[in-house]
Amino acid sequence: MSRILIVDDEPSIRITLSAFLKSEGYDVHSVPDALKALEFLKEHPVDILVTDIIMPGMTGIELIDKLRKFQKEVRVIIMTGEPTVETAVTAVQNGASDYLAKPIRKEDFLRVVRNTAQTKALMDEKKDLEERNIEYQRNLEYMVASRTHALHKAMESIITLLSQVVEFRDPYTAGHQRRVGNLAASIAEKLNLSNEQTELIRIIGYIHDIGKITIPSEILSKPGKLSRAEFELLKGHSYSGYEMLSRVDLPPLIAEAIYQHHERFDGSGYPRALANSQIMVEAHILMVADVVEAMMSHRPYRPSLGRDVALLEIKEKSGRLYRPDVVNACLDLFKNGYEIDDEAHEVMIPV
Ligand SMILES: [Fe+2]
Repeated sequence: MSRILIVDDEPSIRITLSAFLKSEGYDVHSVPDALKALEFLKEHPVDILVTDIIMPGMTGIELIDKLRKFQKEVRVIIMTGEPTVETAVTAVQNGASDYLAKPIRKEDFLRVVRNTAQTKALMDEKKDLEERNIEYQRNLEYMVASRTHALHKAMESIITLLSQVVEFRDPYTAGHQRRVGNLAASIAEKLNLSNEQTELIRIIGYIHDIGKITIPSEILSKPGKLSRAEFELLKGHSYSGYEMLSRVDLPPLIAEAIYQHHERFDGSGYPRALANSQIMVEAHILMVADVVEAMMSHRPYRPSLGRDVALLEIKEKSGRLYRPDVVNACLDLFKNGYEIDDEAHEVMIPV
């Protein structure tokens, strides 16, 4: 039930109005002046304040003004013995929700209090709902964020696993995919591709040779040159990688870029002899990163060919085997001190 404070300097009014309200079940308190009212209200919040206007010390209007500074939601009913339009306007301007002229009839008083109490209850309910809604939104945001994080972590471990699977079978290229992924991401960054695209390119690099798990390990670990037949078999890894990744729920361009990573700018690559704009930018970047990293790496059958030889290779074949802007971005990177990066960076898959 609503809690009400009555403020009036006339004891008979306080007693009568309190009795009316108590008989209706309200929780009623009364005080003789505005100062006592403020003291009471600081300790005991109420739903409704019923106050006289003209009282010794402080008027009812001043009381409302002071009260609003620490209790904004209290509904106020003003009573006065001088019912003029001006008094009513001032009362409403000061935040009174209703107005009663003295002498006050019991029925009018109870009707006004009842209406005010209902309005207050509705306002409280609205406020409560708003607060609960804010709390719910906050929880929801937290839940979505933590689920998304968990999903990212799961995806990340799948990428790491896929990357390691090939390296178990093909130890000579251990770390190759990681280094290619990092270099490809740096080239993408240099080409001002979006962060999302750059991170996808890193992922593509980390798993671009996944199709090699379908290639016999004697071929993968064979030192020296492969026979023509063996090389034909090895070439199948682009398509195998594409096929494997097409079946999982990852952005489709990952599979497609892997399918294209041995194509060449002039159409001399494999498996589909795509050229120029038929090849997606992700694959153009990957093929440059792939060849540079491979030439700079030590292999059991040859030492590293070195940075300069690798960079000369892409420079000489720029516009023929490799897309010129990608080659330039890669050359620029190394000119500015880029070092081959063997670290496994965290990857973010858009989910
Ligand atoms: Fe490959």
